[in-house]
Amino acid sequence: SDTNKDVNERLLSICEVLESNIPYYNWVGFYFRNGDKEELKLGPYVGAPTDHTIIPFGKGICGQVAVSNQNFVVPDVSAQDNYIACSITVKAEIVVPIFVNGENIGQIDIDSNTIDPFTEADERFLEFVCSQVSSIL
Ligand code: SME
Repeated sequence: SDTNKDVNERLLSICEVLESNIPYYNWVGFYFRNGDKEELKLGPYVGAPTDHTIIPFGKGICGQVAVSNQNFVVPDVSAQDNYIACSITVKAEIVVPIFVNGENIGQIDIDSNTIDPFTEADERFLEFVCSQVSSIL
């Protein structure tokens, strides 16, 4: 199987391809469950550095997806009460979980500087990306 270094390089490449090709994908990153802890840890990402390298399950959009196992599309982050702001430029967010053998082991997280940019096509596309990621983990 792939080494962790290979996997992280490939995950970073995915972030770069998405951020550079889709104008409303402005921060693209992966969070993964941190061992056996009830928290997420930041993995490869492209975009502004974030202070939120560890996110407890249940906190913010990412932490909610860690427990819901569902996509979370946020058209307007200012309307969310359980939201962790990483950058004041962010207007919208989408988080799609990654499953390995049916277990939610992480997620792709995308921030947009555009309000309400994400459609069902983004969800279907990112589900496909996550299924491909699952196969290299
Ligand atoms: N906004 C996220 C935190 C991660 S940053 O978007 C990179 C949240 O509310 O969980």
